[in-house]
Amino acid sequence: MLSKKMEDALNEQMNREMYSAYLYMSMSSFCTNKGLKGFANWFMVQYHEEMLHAMKFYEYINHQGGRAVLNTIQQPPSEFASPLDMFTKTLEHEQFITKSINELMELAIAGKDHATRIFLQWYVTEQVEEEGNDNEIIAQLQIIKDNPQGLMMLDRELASRMTTVPTEFSKGVEAAIKGTPAA
Ligand code: FEO
Repeated sequence: MLSKKMEDALNEQMNREMYSAYLYMSMSSFCTNKGLKGFANWFMVQYHEEMLHAMKFYEYINHQGGRAVLNTIQQPPSEFASPLDMFTKTLEHEQFITKSINELMELAIAGKDHATRIFLQWYVTEQVEEEGNDNEIIAQLQIIKDNPQGLMMLDRELASRMTTVPTEFSKGVEAAIKGTPAA
């Protein structure tokens, strides 16, 4: 059972996850247009991960007797100065998401909502991984600076990122809710 306050906060987070997907899809399109196929792949994989994050909220809210309510998704930026600019914005966005997950966790603890607290634990762990990935790529881009050869080498490396989101989406959501490594 969810309190109304918790249900509303979870719905807001579902929207933020969808915005995250939208943001990374926009970055992927930008990279494709600039001939950076590996970067485009990395952001498209990230798009799929974010949609899974959103769907987990959708499933959880409805399973707990609430109602997932879809809201307007904010328009993401479509122009970026450089790959470093994109990853700096990605990290800033993920830090914002980490903060909002922490606030949800505090709400669950204050409301003695242990089911939601356990559900949110997956996101706490996921955010550590996401920020870590972004920090790693930012560090590489800072070394590369304006070296096109270095940029193309990193582009090739990022081309190998594969999605961990199963093609059978509903099974992926089910597994993620149970905490098994589907994403
Ligand atoms: Fe769903 Fe990138 O956090």
